Amino acid sequence: MAEWPFAVLRALSDGKFHSGEAIAQSLGCSRTLIWQAVHTIETEFGLPVFSVRGQGYRLPQPMDWLDVAAIRADLSPGCSEDWTIAVADQVDSTNTQLLSRANSDGLHGLVLAAELQSAGRGRLGRRWQARLGDCLMFSLLWRFDRGLAELAGLSLAVGLALARVLRQLGAPVELKWPNDVLLGGCKMAGILIELSGDALGPAAVVIGIGINLREPQDVDQAVSALSSCGVEVSRNRLLALLLNELHGVLQTFNSQGFAPFADAWMALSAHQDQPVRLSFSHGEPIEGVARGVADNGALLVDTASGRQTFHVGEVSLRSLG
Ligand code: BTN
Repeated sequence: MAEWPFAVLRALSDGKFHSGEAIAQSLGCSRTLIWQAVHTIETEFGLPVFSVRGQGYRLPQPMDWLDVAAIRADLSPGCSEDWTIAVADQVDSTNTQLLSRANSDGLHGLVLAAELQSAGRGRLGRRWQARLGDCLMFSLLWRFDRGLAELAGLSLAVGLALARVLRQLGAPVELKWPNDVLLGGCKMAGILIELSGDALGPAAVVIGIGINLREPQDVDQAVSALSSCGVEVSRNRLLALLLNELHGVLQTFNSQGFAPFADAWMALSAHQDQPVRLSFSHGEPIEGVARGVADNGALLVDTASGRQTFHVGEVSLRSLG
């Protein structure tokens, strides 16, 4: 049963030793079940559990669980009422969950954060994988008055909100078009925006965000984490700070679009005036020099055949520096 590993993890949250017998007693189950749960924690969740004869089980470090009350405690009074927050131990994908509600009863400002995702998704059909406790993963549902056609720069505005919060915490992050947050040139956070609605509006948007707090293992690209620049923050506080910032950014975007954010975005761009290569799902790559973004979030690149404009979609950007 999926609940037992989480129940055992909660019993071990303080990072101290607990005997199998004491845990079994407190949970009202057999010691065999505890043993099986520990096995699942190690093999499926990828978390080591120290086991010492005569002392019991212990986690390498205390667990900082997602907690609605702790998140709400750091929300600004001005936006607190607009967020409805839920946390889950394990879901397929927080984006998938909120998308299924976007067309029906899903509340504007609904937030779902998860400890684990069994089918976390990234852009361009990629997977998003994270070990329990190492990453802040959440999605939010936001309803815009504008239609889908006017939401092109949204992922950049969301990236800017993330960068502002992370920089305030002391992480010198930069932005990569269209929506990655980099630390030391490697990806630290990703954004997956999924839309539901009509071209002319209104639109329901699910914004999914994953931020590495500790370096993930077994991923196939160079990645970074908040801890690598010495920033220690609980996922609950980080989520609250992000919701405070996102609230203002999403409201401004709803009324004015991306234009008010363009200068701030370019000031944090990792590739401003740098040589880049753009790859497409079809066709040859294009090389040029990144020259910032237009008022709708499109990327401007000076190429051999003049200045070209690229829209958010099936484009990947690489530094040539
Ligand atoms: C990317 O960089 O390609 C986007 C990654 C987005 C990952 C987050 S984690 C929370 C939310 N749920 C998902 O399945 N994906 C997003």
